[in-house]
Amino acid sequence: MATATLTKRQAKSTRSNEGIKSQSFLNTIICGDVLEELRKLPDASIDIVITSPPYNLKNSTGNGMKDGRGGKWANAALQKGYSHHHDNMPHDEYVAWQRDCLTELMRIISDDGAIFYNHKWRVQNGLLQDRQDIVSGFPVRQIIIWRRKGGFNFNPGYFVPTYEVIYLIAKKGFRLAPKSNGHGDVWEFMQEMNNDHPAAFPIDLIDRIVSSTTAKTVLDPFMGSGTTAISALKHGRDYVGIDISPEYCAMAEQRIAEFKAQTKLI
Ligand SMILES: C[S@@+](CC[C@H](N)C(=O)[O-])C[C@H]1O[C@@H](n2cnc3c(N)ncnc32)[C@H](O)[C@@H]1O
Repeated sequence: MATATLTKRQAKSTRSNEGIKSQSFLNTIICGDVLEELRKLPDASIDIVITSPPYNLKNSTGNGMKDGRGGKWANAALQKGYSHHHDNMPHDEYVAWQRDCLTELMRIISDDGAIFYNHKWRVQNGLLQDRQDIVSGFPVRQIIIWRRKGGFNFNPGYFVPTYEVIYLIAKKGFRLAPKSNGHGDVWEFMQEMNNDHPAAFPIDLIDRIVSSTTAKTVLDPFMGSGTTAISALKHGRDYVGIDISPEYCAMAEQRIAEFKAQTKLI
């Protein structure tokens, strides 16, 4: 089939299939479904994964996002969800999806690889919902607390939530870069405010992770606006990004092009 007759999506997918044979999937943003695209990546082809999945916030009883109406979070960027993901899966389905992603990621990382998996605990029906149902059975080596600035207290039954977690899920051979262990396991970084993506990472957080490893290749299977790719480039590492939203993929491509132009990488 001639490429000229393919739709944009097919052309991308064809490119990524060809890429895998030649490892040229490195330094690309793949616009597609996470599991479909992860299944195309070879075993042990990536050193570390840094990612933050959609949190399924609209499927919630307790954070004001109830039933997707937004509630007290009506002005929050995520109230409208993502451009191509509703963020409102039945909880069991969501957990199974995330576990399938982690299973694929464990296959894709090398024997000394690791997954930095960012998530958020929350209260549901008055009880803490940690994310043990997602990570149970995976080799969680450490939980890093990402302390964010600020927070709102809508409920006199709880202290104001101010942190998210980063699960360090590591294969046996994974080691930090020399002296990086001195950062400790509680990190304070202001949430990102200057990004049109509704849930972007602050770049400093990802810089901390990338620079704390000796990884040559970094994958973000929920790449969003491309923060992980920018950080990888800053540190001279290769990246691979996946996102289902053509809008966010375009954002990521634009940020990468701007970064390369500024740093004269092209
Ligand atoms: C929390 S955001 C990631 C933001 C990113 N860390 C950044 O700095 O911009 C989660 C991302 O997952 C993407 N996503 C949702 N469902 C997906 C799917 N099935 N396949 C791939 N990406 C998906 C959304 O489009 C969204 O950009």
